[in-house]
Amino acid sequence: MCGIVGYVGEKPAASILIDSLKKLEYRGYDSAGICVLNDSLKTYKTTGKIANLESILPEGIEGTIGIGHTRWATHGKPNTVNSHPHLSGDVAVVHNGIIENYLELKEKLIGDGYIFKSDTDTEVIAHLLHSHLYGGIDGVFKLCDLMVAVQKTLLSLEGSYAIAALCSSDPGVMVVARKDSPLVIGIGDGEIFAASDVTAFLKHTKDVIFVDDDEVASIRAGGNVEFFDADGNPVTKETIKIEWYIEDAEKAGYEHFMLKEIHEQASSVQDTFAGKISEMEGAVVLDELNMSDEQIRHMTRIEIIACGTSWNAGLVGKYLFEQLAGIHTDVDTGSEFRYGYPVICGEVLTIAITQSGETADTLAAVRGARSYGCRAIAITNVVGSTITREIDSVLYTRAGPEIGVAATKSFTTQLITLYMLALKFARIRGKISAEDSKNLLVALKKIPADIQKILNRKKVIQECAKQFSDSNDYFFIGRHLNYPIALEGALKLKEISYIHAEGYAAGELKHGPLALLTDKTPVVAIATKGHTYEKMLSNIKEVKARDAVVIAVADEDDTEIEKYVDVVLRVPKSHELLSPILSSVVLQLLAYYTALERGCSIDKPRNLAKSVTVE
Ligand code: G6P
Repeated sequence: MCGIVGYVGEKPAASILIDSLKKLEYRGYDSAGICVLNDSLKTYKTTGKIANLESILPEGIEGTIGIGHTRWATHGKPNTVNSHPHLSGDVAVVHNGIIENYLELKEKLIGDGYIFKSDTDTEVIAHLLHSHLYGGIDGVFKLCDLMVAVQKTLLSLEGSYAIAALCSSDPGVMVVARKDSPLVIGIGDGEIFAASDVTAFLKHTKDVIFVDDDEVASIRAGGNVEFFDADGNPVTKETIKIEWYIEDAEKAGYEHFMLKEIHEQASSVQDTFAGKISEMEGAVVLDELNMSDEQIRHMTRIEIIACGTSWNAGLVGKYLFEQLAGIHTDVDTGSEFRYGYPVICGEVLTIAITQSGETADTLAAVRGARSYGCRAIAITNVVGSTITREIDSVLYTRAGPEIGVAATKSFTTQLITLYMLALKFARIRGKISAEDSKNLLVALKKIPADIQKILNRKKVIQECAKQFSDSNDYFFIGRHLNYPIALEGALKLKEISYIHAEGYAAGELKHGPLALLTDKTPVVAIATKGHTYEKMLSNIKEVKARDAVVIAVADEDDTEIEKYVDVVLRVPKSHELLSPILSSVVLQLLAYYTALERGCSIDKPRNLAKSVTVE
């Protein structure tokens, strides 16, 4: 995920910016850059590690004010041109977030004569700033100061941003602003820092001010910071002392990357659907899919290929494509696909799901499918990964870098992408009305807030995890869409806590596993309300009759379930097709806290790798 930094003080800015960017490395990035203002703007940027950036910096860069950026590519390839800062005349800007209406703004700016060098959404901000400062591409005289230009620019931006901007005709000032992307100011002794998180400047100061949404701050040499709200009114802000050690802060204060990534899901899910849905029209816009309506209508089958957690996401996709869009869907693991039938493809769409875009089995299977003439698309999280170069079109999840080996936010963002894709297919194939589609999209927009509610109540899940952390075996059961969630819940638990765990279709328990249940076997029953709820209750009773302990994942308004089970872990009430996303967050936390209790190596479980590049 991108990170921004800024410095205004008395020391040489370049080395401070580089040091701050290094502290943001944990966020993951593919390129980096800085811009230092002395008499003019001096910009240095390149791909790869920050060491690469350091290697191109000349000795003794003068200037005590500057901005910097680590980029995790979303719009446009990871290359030097696309890396930040972006310039327009004597204006420089760095940005973290996604400008959803950038295409529209870009078109207008091109019409006004601005020439775009990069493929990024960010470059529109630089040109907008310039046009407000000078009245257009040919303007010579400054019409306002940088602060006013930023305020005017923000009025046209839709989406999320944390930005820092400089202008050589307004020396000695840096302007920062935020909406839906993190931004914090560090107050030092005669110097001010700005960054995406405090880790960037923690070694210089622990006195911080968190910038709120729609606020703009003007930061001047001498340690002067002024804050303004969206209407330009001055705002008084509170300075807070952060009690963090630099080592903790590498994970933004979380004990493990996995916990941090679980917590990031409210925003990563939001980022994944941002700009792609219109609930007013009941429409999903996925231009990058690159398929005509005709092709979508004539599709006869979908073949999903994936491994591990991504395969579990694929199983959810099967239900969505079949139920919403009426398309028969098969799901294969990459390692097994090639032993099946030679697929005669004409009208079959292959969908590869892979967080990393590098899993060897998935890549090999997709190559096989394409050799039969299949059209193939990928759902992946990593821009520029191998799969993106070997496929007809790519749908990116916007989970940001996932460092913990156990997949969390990549899984829920894959589910969101599959959901959008199924809805798009369903609309084009005439399987659901615009009205039903609208309702489903309204339900989708509620999911980030619902995830946040679960995170706010995580203590209950932690207690439950502690209670059963000595168990040798766990079962996870569910029906319909909750069946793959049971598989994923079991996978999470086994990979990080080393407890033997099995996911089962709830109706299949009686065909074998019931023999294994004792009063020492917790059974997690995913029993959110839906058309299989009554049947789940029967399965729960079967389990209870064998004295096993039942932990139910159930809706917050379900008062019936507590009569039959030992523990209830609640999820906010949501649409039946979306509740698997919420249940999986609960199961991630259950696995995490169980592993924590057992003292396991959570981020790097034994024998496992984040990206498996061998077949
Ligand atoms: C490894 C990881 C899993 C992941 C699987 C597939 O096994 O440990 O967390 O689900 O690979 O990875 P992919 O990048 O293809 O989604």
